[in-house]
Amino acid sequence: MSIAGKDLAQRVVRWQAQHGRNTLPWQNTRDPYRVWLSEIMLQQTQVATVLDYYARFLNRFPDVQALSKATLDDVLALWSGLGYYSRARNLHACAVEVMQHHNGSFPATAEALQTLPGIGRSTAGAIASLCFEERVAILDGNVKRVLTRVLGFDADLALSKNERTLWELATQALPAQRQHMPRYTQGMMDLGATVCLSRKPMCDSCPLNASCLAQQQGEPEKYPVKTRKLKRSAQSIWLLWAQTSDGQVQLAKRPSPGVWAGLYCFSLFDSRTALVESVDARWQGDLEDDAVFTHVLTHKDLHLHPVRLTAPKRALKGLHGDWFSPAQVQDLGLPAPIKKLLLNR
Ligand code: ADE
Repeated sequence: MSIAGKDLAQRVVRWQAQHGRNTLPWQNTRDPYRVWLSEIMLQQTQVATVLDYYARFLNRFPDVQALSKATLDDVLALWSGLGYYSRARNLHACAVEVMQHHNGSFPATAEALQTLPGIGRSTAGAIASLCFEERVAILDGNVKRVLTRVLGFDADLALSKNERTLWELATQALPAQRQHMPRYTQGMMDLGATVCLSRKPMCDSCPLNASCLAQQQGEPEKYPVKTRKLKRSAQSIWLLWAQTSDGQVQLAKRPSPGVWAGLYCFSLFDSRTALVESVDARWQGDLEDDAVFTHVLTHKDLHLHPVRLTAPKRALKGLHGDWFSPAQVQDLGLPAPIKKLLLNR
């Protein structure tokens, strides 16, 4: 993958001066306190919403010292409505740390900024490049979109090695001269926010149009490529492992749809209480808890709690299912974890 022409940075810088956003209240300042505050607010919130909050915050806490002296409750109250409240807690913690460990001045490198609460690699890059002209990349959602499109970078960003490669490419694309860094960083953000939109990008207005691989390929919306990360959940299930004294076990065919549809399984319960209630009172005292184990499905972890009972068939109250001898069990379709339980003993 080669960088899309070494004039990428130059084009972005020129475009920013003419067409970028240059009048937002956190621009035209190199005060890291102001830039930091705006970057944290803008992390998960639109510019239009941030404007009011930003003004109120600066009015109440004009500098990092004032913010550090506030109570967390006051900061949270002022943040109220912006959402993602860990940002406000980190904001306060960061102000305290700048006062206590950095003599009240924000450190001037991305590397040092990243050690502060709530400042990740991209936010550190934004502050260091906008305030201190450091030649360091940013890679927020907007910039990822611009870069992956221009470069035709189609590797899956859900994988951290691909994300690392994109950081390297972003670093190679930086302007050679420090003094262009603030405008370049702002330009990349502005391009992503106003031209290189995720749907219906305005390629005709883009300064990178001539060298953009995604646009040459005709499907810029395809980028960035990122497979959805599965949200995993967990569930606890109690299994009644009922057995007669001559070794028959009770199993029932699982309904469809559902986990293990069509396979033979112990009776399943959402709680131990529900399981106990399915057993006649005379045998409830014979229930024995077996070791809990975890069965991993693609979308969830099942924490399985087997409970053993050796008793006559009539000990089970109205559970549907059939009784199978050990030889018959060999021929049934069993879920993997049930198989493990039954055939290992
Ligand atoms: N989003 C994140 N940082 C920004 C900035 N400096 N200007 C506009 N939008 C942004």
